[in-house]
Amino acid sequence: MGLLEGKVALITGAARGIGKAIALKYASEGADIAFTDLVINEDAEKTVAEIEAFGHKVKAYASNAANFDETHEVVEQIKADFGKIDILVNNAGITKDGLMLKMTEQQWDAVLAVNLKSAFNFIHAVIPVMMRQKAGSIINMSSVVGVHGNAAQANYAASKAGLIALAKSIGQEMGRKGIRANAIAPGFIETAMTQALPEEVRAEWMERIPLRRGGTVEDIANVATFLASDMSSYVSGQVIQVDGGMNM
Ligand code: NAI
Repeated sequence: MGLLEGKVALITGAARGIGKAIALKYASEGADIAFTDLVINEDAEKTVAEIEAFGHKVKAYASNAANFDETHEVVEQIKADFGKIDILVNNAGITKDGLMLKMTEQQWDAVLAVNLKSAFNFIHAVIPVMMRQKAGSIINMSSVVGVHGNAAQANYAASKAGLIALAKSIGQEMGRKGIRANAIAPGFIETAMTQALPEEVRAEWMERIPLRRGGTVEDIANVATFLASDMSSYVSGQVIQVDGGMNM
Protein backbone atom coordinates (compact mmCIF):
# COMPACT_ATOMS: atom_id res chain seq x y z
CA MET A 1 0.00 0.00 0.00
CA GLY A 2 1.28 3.47 -0.90
CA LEU A 3 2.13 6.10 1.70
CA LEU A 4 -0.67 8.39 0.45
CA GLU A 5 -3.37 5.83 -0.35
CA GLY A 6 -6.87 7.40 -0.28
CA LYS A 7 -5.59 10.97 0.13
CA VAL A 8 -6.37 13.96 -2.11
CA ALA A 9 -3.51 16.37 -2.80
CA LEU A 10 -3.76 19.90 -4.18
CA ILE A 11 -0.50 21.22 -5.66
CA THR A 12 -0.11 24.72 -7.11
CA GLY A 13 2.01 25.44 -10.19
CA ALA A 14 2.48 21.76 -10.98
CA ALA A 15 2.43 21.71 -14.78
CA ARG A 16 6.22 21.33 -14.75
CA GLY A 17 9.33 21.33 -12.58
CA ILE A 18 9.28 20.56 -8.86
CA GLY A 19 5.47 20.71 -8.62
CA LYS A 20 5.11 18.13 -11.37
CA ALA A 21 7.64 15.80 -9.70
CA ILE A 22 5.67 16.06 -6.44
CA ALA A 23 2.40 15.31 -8.24
CA LEU A 24 3.92 12.22 -9.90
CA LYS A 25 5.45 10.95 -6.68
CA TYR A 26 2.21 11.50 -4.74
CA ALA A 27 0.25 9.62 -7.43
CA SER A 28 2.79 6.79 -7.31
CA GLU A 29 2.08 6.59 -3.55
CA GLY A 30 -1.67 6.32 -4.10
CA ALA A 31 -2.98 9.92 -3.95
CA ASP A 32 -5.58 11.55 -6.20
CA ILE A 33 -4.19 14.79 -7.62
CA ALA A 34 -5.71 18.23 -8.23
CA PHE A 35 -3.18 20.68 -9.57
CA THR A 36 -3.23 24.28 -10.74
CA ASP A 37 -1.16 26.34 -13.11
CA LEU A 38 -1.56 29.69 -14.82
CA VAL A 39 -2.71 28.03 -18.04
CA ILE A 40 -3.47 24.42 -18.85
CA ASN A 41 -1.34 24.08 -21.96
CA GLU A 42 0.30 21.09 -23.69
CA ASP A 43 2.83 20.72 -20.86
CA ALA A 44 0.06 20.55 -18.29
CA GLU A 45 -1.91 18.04 -20.38
CA LYS A 46 1.23 15.89 -20.61
CA THR A 47 1.54 16.07 -16.82
CA VAL A 48 -2.10 14.98 -16.49
CA ALA A 49 -1.47 11.98 -18.76
CA GLU A 50 1.66 10.96 -16.81
CA ILE A 51 -0.24 11.14 -13.50
CA GLU A 52 -3.20 9.21 -14.97
CA ALA A 53 -0.81 6.37 -15.81
CA PHE A 54 -0.64 5.61 -12.06
CA GLY A 55 -4.36 4.85 -12.16
CA HIS A 56 -5.53 7.64 -9.90
CA LYS A 57 -7.90 10.55 -10.38
CA VAL A 58 -6.27 13.73 -11.66
CA LYS A 59 -7.56 17.10 -12.79
CA ALA A 60 -5.72 20.28 -13.83
CA TYR A 61 -7.16 23.74 -13.15
CA ALA A 62 -6.17 27.06 -14.75
CA SER A 63 -5.88 29.52 -11.89
CA ASN A 64 -3.67 32.45 -10.90
CA ALA A 65 -2.51 31.58 -7.39
CA ALA A 66 -1.81 35.26 -6.67
CA ASN A 67 -5.51 36.11 -7.07
CA PHE A 68 -7.61 35.72 -3.88
CA ASP A 69 -11.02 35.33 -5.54
CA GLU A 70 -9.77 32.96 -8.25
CA THR A 71 -8.14 30.81 -5.58
CA HIS A 72 -11.35 30.54 -3.56
CA GLU A 73 -13.27 29.66 -6.73
CA VAL A 74 -10.82 26.94 -7.75
CA VAL A 75 -10.80 25.42 -4.25
CA GLU A 76 -14.63 25.30 -4.35
CA GLN A 77 -14.40 23.48 -7.69
CA ILE A 78 -11.81 21.03 -6.33
CA LYS A 79 -14.01 20.33 -3.29
CA ALA A 80 -16.90 19.58 -5.63
CA ASP A 81 -14.75 17.36 -7.88
CA PHE A 82 -12.78 15.45 -5.23
CA GLY A 83 -14.91 15.72 -2.07
CA LYS A 84 -11.98 16.54 0.22
CA ILE A 85 -8.44 17.93 0.39
CA ASP A 86 -5.88 16.21 2.64
CA ILE A 87 -2.65 17.78 1.39
CA LEU A 88 -1.92 21.31 0.13
CA VAL A 89 1.44 22.08 -1.48
CA ASN A 90 2.03 25.79 -2.08
CA ASN A 91 4.58 25.36 -4.85
CA ALA A 92 3.86 28.09 -7.47
CA GLY A 93 6.71 30.57 -7.60
CA ILE A 94 8.61 33.02 -9.77
CA THR A 95 11.82 35.06 -9.67
CA LYS A 96 12.37 38.64 -10.79
CA ASP A 97 15.94 39.18 -9.60
CA GLY A 98 17.77 42.47 -9.33
CA LEU A 99 19.99 44.49 -7.02
CA MET A 100 18.00 46.60 -4.56
CA LEU A 101 19.08 49.89 -6.14
CA LYS A 102 17.64 48.78 -9.45
CA MET A 103 14.65 46.78 -8.22
CA THR A 104 11.34 48.22 -9.35
CA GLU A 105 8.17 48.26 -7.27
CA GLN A 106 6.64 46.00 -9.92
CA GLN A 107 9.42 43.41 -9.42
CA TRP A 108 8.86 43.45 -5.67
CA ASP A 109 5.06 43.28 -5.83
CA ALA A 110 4.93 40.52 -8.47
CA VAL A 111 7.25 38.19 -6.56
CA LEU A 112 5.57 38.77 -3.20
CA ALA A 113 2.12 38.22 -4.77
CA VAL A 114 2.94 35.01 -6.64
CA ASN A 115 5.21 33.46 -4.02
CA LEU A 116 3.75 34.55 -0.68
CA LYS A 117 0.24 35.93 -1.09
CA SER A 118 -0.62 32.82 -3.14
CA ALA A 119 0.10 30.64 -0.10
CA PHE A 120 -2.14 32.85 2.07
CA ASN A 121 -4.86 32.58 -0.58
CA PHE A 122 -4.73 28.78 -0.71
CA ILE A 123 -4.34 28.22 3.03
CA HIS A 124 -7.26 30.60 3.65
CA ALA A 125 -9.45 28.69 1.19
CA VAL A 126 -8.38 25.15 2.16
CA ILE A 127 -8.27 25.40 5.96
CA PRO A 128 -12.06 25.21 6.48
CA VAL A 129 -12.03 21.93 4.53
CA MET A 130 -9.17 20.51 6.60
CA MET A 131 -10.81 21.70 9.85
CA ARG A 132 -13.95 19.75 9.00
CA GLN A 133 -11.79 16.69 8.31
CA LYS A 134 -9.83 17.32 11.55
CA ALA A 135 -6.68 16.54 9.57
CA GLY A 136 -4.46 18.01 6.90
CA SER A 137 -0.87 18.62 5.85
CA ILE A 138 0.22 21.94 4.38
CA ILE A 139 3.63 22.27 2.72
CA ASN A 140 5.08 25.62 1.65
CA MET A 141 7.85 25.54 -0.96
CA SER A 142 10.41 27.95 0.44
CA SER A 143 14.11 28.09 -0.52
CA VAL A 144 17.51 28.13 1.16
CA VAL A 145 17.64 31.83 0.30
CA GLY A 146 14.57 32.28 2.50
CA VAL A 147 16.73 31.04 5.39
CA HIS A 148 20.00 32.76 4.53
CA GLY A 149 19.11 35.66 2.16
CA ASN A 150 20.79 36.21 -1.21
CA ALA A 151 22.24 39.25 -2.94
CA ALA A 152 20.16 40.43 -5.90
CA GLN A 153 17.19 38.37 -4.71
CA ALA A 154 15.80 40.53 -1.88
CA ASN A 155 12.24 40.17 -3.16
CA TYR A 156 12.48 36.40 -3.70
CA ALA A 157 14.33 35.78 -0.40
CA ALA A 158 11.80 37.88 1.55
CA SER A 159 8.90 35.97 -0.01
CA LYS A 160 10.54 32.63 0.79
CA ALA A 161 11.28 33.70 4.39
CA GLY A 162 7.63 34.70 4.64
CA LEU A 163 6.57 31.21 3.57
CA ILE A 164 8.56 29.75 6.47
CA ALA A 165 6.97 32.08 9.05
CA LEU A 166 3.57 31.41 7.51
CA ALA A 167 4.01 27.64 7.88
CA LYS A 168 5.24 27.98 11.48
CA SER A 169 2.30 30.27 12.37
CA ILE A 170 -0.31 28.01 10.77
CA GLY A 171 1.30 25.04 12.53
CA GLN A 172 0.77 26.79 15.87
CA GLU A 173 -2.70 28.11 15.08
CA MET A 174 -4.14 24.92 13.56
CA GLY A 175 -2.36 22.14 15.46
CA ARG A 176 -5.31 21.56 17.77
CA LYS A 177 -7.44 20.96 14.67
CA GLY A 178 -5.12 18.20 13.49
CA ILE A 179 -3.57 20.34 10.75
CA ARG A 180 0.20 20.33 10.29
CA ALA A 181 2.18 22.92 8.32
CA ASN A 182 5.83 22.72 7.29
CA ALA A 183 8.21 24.28 4.77
CA ILE A 184 10.76 22.76 2.42
CA ALA A 185 13.80 24.85 1.56
CA PRO A 186 15.37 23.46 -1.61
CA GLY A 187 18.92 24.43 -2.49
CA PHE A 188 20.24 24.30 -6.05
CA ILE A 189 17.81 22.05 -7.94
CA GLU A 190 18.35 21.00 -11.56
CA THR A 191 15.37 22.56 -13.34
CA ALA A 192 14.91 24.71 -16.46
CA MET A 193 15.58 27.76 -14.24
CA THR A 194 18.97 26.62 -12.93
CA GLN A 195 20.08 24.91 -16.16
CA ALA A 196 19.83 28.30 -17.88
CA LEU A 197 22.44 29.83 -15.52
CA PRO A 198 25.91 30.64 -16.96
CA GLU A 199 28.48 27.85 -16.48
CA GLU A 200 30.61 29.94 -14.07
CA VAL A 201 27.59 30.61 -11.83
CA ARG A 202 26.74 26.89 -11.80
CA ALA A 203 30.37 26.06 -10.96
CA GLU A 204 30.29 28.53 -8.05
CA TRP A 205 27.17 26.82 -6.63
CA MET A 206 28.73 23.35 -6.98
CA GLU A 207 31.76 24.49 -4.95
CA ARG A 208 29.42 25.31 -2.06
CA ILE A 209 27.56 21.98 -2.11
CA PRO A 210 29.27 19.25 -0.05
CA LEU A 211 27.49 16.52 -2.03
CA ARG A 212 28.92 18.14 -5.21
CA ARG A 213 25.78 17.93 -7.32
CA GLY A 214 22.63 19.85 -7.92
CA GLY A 215 19.51 18.36 -6.36
CA THR A 216 16.94 16.57 -8.50
CA VAL A 217 13.24 17.35 -8.50
CA GLU A 218 12.79 13.84 -7.10
CA ASP A 219 14.96 14.78 -4.08
CA ILE A 220 12.37 17.44 -3.27
CA ALA A 221 9.40 15.19 -4.09
CA ASN A 222 10.69 12.56 -1.63
CA VAL A 223 10.77 15.03 1.27
CA ALA A 224 7.38 16.42 0.20
CA THR A 225 6.02 12.86 0.35
CA PHE A 226 7.35 12.39 3.89
CA LEU A 227 5.73 15.65 5.01
CA ALA A 228 2.42 14.80 3.31
CA SER A 229 2.23 11.29 4.72
CA ASP A 230 1.42 9.95 8.17
CA MET A 231 5.15 9.14 8.51
CA SER A 232 5.48 12.78 9.65
CA SER A 233 2.34 12.83 11.82
CA TYR A 234 4.24 14.47 14.74
CA VAL A 235 6.17 16.97 12.58
CA SER A 236 4.81 20.52 12.32
CA GLY A 237 6.21 24.03 12.08
CA GLN A 238 9.49 22.79 10.65
CA VAL A 239 11.62 23.86 7.73
CA ILE A 240 13.59 21.08 6.05
CA GLN A 241 16.53 22.18 3.92
CA VAL A 242 17.07 19.87 0.95
CA ASP A 243 20.32 21.28 -0.32
CA GLY A 244 23.10 18.69 -0.37
CA GLY A 245 24.47 20.05 2.90
CA MET A 246 25.12 23.50 1.44
CA ASN A 247 26.56 26.14 3.70
CA MET A 248 25.46 29.48 2.21
P1 NAI B 1 9.15 26.35 -12.54
O1 NAI B 1 9.19 27.73 -13.06
O2 NAI B 1 9.69 25.24 -13.38
O3 NAI B 1 7.66 25.95 -12.14
C1 NAI B 1 6.82 26.86 -11.47
C2 NAI B 1 5.40 26.63 -11.94
O4 NAI B 1 4.56 27.59 -11.28
C3 NAI B 1 5.22 26.83 -13.45
O5 NAI B 1 4.49 25.77 -14.01
C4 NAI B 1 4.49 28.15 -13.53
O6 NAI B 1 3.65 28.28 -14.68
C5 NAI B 1 3.68 28.13 -12.24
N1 NAI B 1 3.23 29.46 -11.85
C6 NAI B 1 3.93 30.62 -11.91
N2 NAI B 1 3.16 31.64 -11.50
C7 NAI B 1 1.95 31.12 -11.16
C8 NAI B 1 0.73 31.66 -10.67
N3 NAI B 1 0.61 32.98 -10.45
N4 NAI B 1 -0.30 30.82 -10.44
C9 NAI B 1 -0.20 29.49 -10.67
N5 NAI B 1 0.93 28.93 -11.14
C10 NAI B 1 1.99 29.73 -11.38
O7 NAI B 1 9.88 26.40 -11.11
P2 NAI B 1 10.50 25.23 -10.20
O8 NAI B 1 11.97 25.30 -10.32
O9 NAI B 1 9.80 23.95 -10.43
O10 NAI B 1 10.13 25.80 -8.75
C11 NAI B 1 8.99 25.38 -8.02
C12 NAI B 1 9.04 26.04 -6.65
O11 NAI B 1 10.25 25.67 -5.99
C13 NAI B 1 9.02 27.56 -6.71
O12 NAI B 1 8.27 28.07 -5.63
C14 NAI B 1 10.50 27.92 -6.54
O13 NAI B 1 10.66 29.21 -6.02
C15 NAI B 1 10.95 26.84 -5.58
N6 NAI B 1 12.38 26.63 -5.59
C16 NAI B 1 13.05 26.21 -6.73
C17 NAI B 1 14.41 25.99 -6.70
C18 NAI B 1 15.19 25.54 -7.90
O14 NAI B 1 16.41 25.41 -7.81
N7 NAI B 1 14.54 25.26 -9.02
C19 NAI B 1 15.20 26.23 -5.47
C20 NAI B 1 14.41 26.66 -4.35
C21 NAI B 1 13.05 26.83 -4.42
